[in-house]
Amino acid sequence: MSTATILFGTETGNAEMVADELLTALEPFGITGEVQSMGDYPVEDLCGQQMVILITSTYGEGDLPDTAIPFFDALKQQKPDLSSTRFAAFGLGDSSYDTYNNGIATLIEAVTDLGATQIGETGHHDAESGLDPCDTATTWAQETFAAVEV
Ligand SMILES: Cc1cc2nc3c(=O)[nH]c(=O)nc-3n(C[C@H](O)[C@H](O)[C@H](O)COP(=O)(O)O)c2cc1C
Repeated sequence: MSTATILFGTETGNAEMVADELLTALEPFGITGEVQSMGDYPVEDLCGQQMVILITSTYGEGDLPDTAIPFFDALKQQKPDLSSTRFAAFGLGDSSYDTYNNGIATLIEAVTDLGATQIGETGHHDAESGLDPCDTATTWAQETFAAVEV
């Protein structure tokens, strides 16, 4: 059994719902998880993690949601060494905005700058699509984790 730390950044709860759903979706891959808000997560703890799943929405003009901003700021200030950390990434956005899913792109850049390695492709949910974010995320997780050794 592997362990994943599932971190969400949200304003209205969709990313948290997706994070909770992924706990179940990852079980068949032998992955157990722990879901936490980015707002409560000490970035120095990322260094010891086997696998991190980052999930965030986008707000404002392509900004991170409120709960993800302290996490992002701490990454920039504390610069933890993430060279042993692998992560997967899923973003929630709305393609009617020019800055579609900018939030997850911002976080991916921040952690890869610190040495983390991304597994799989970034997953995206588009609110314009009318699809359920949990269904989109489950499909993404199945494709992503079937293709990698965790
Ligand atoms: C005021 C507002 C601003 C938003 N800005 C963006 C944006 O710039 N880019 C984007 O892709 N989505 C944007 N969205 C869409 C949200 O990211 C999307 O609805 C997402 O599912 C919200 O997830 P959350 O409940 O986890 O915060 C915005 C939504 C609102 C209400």
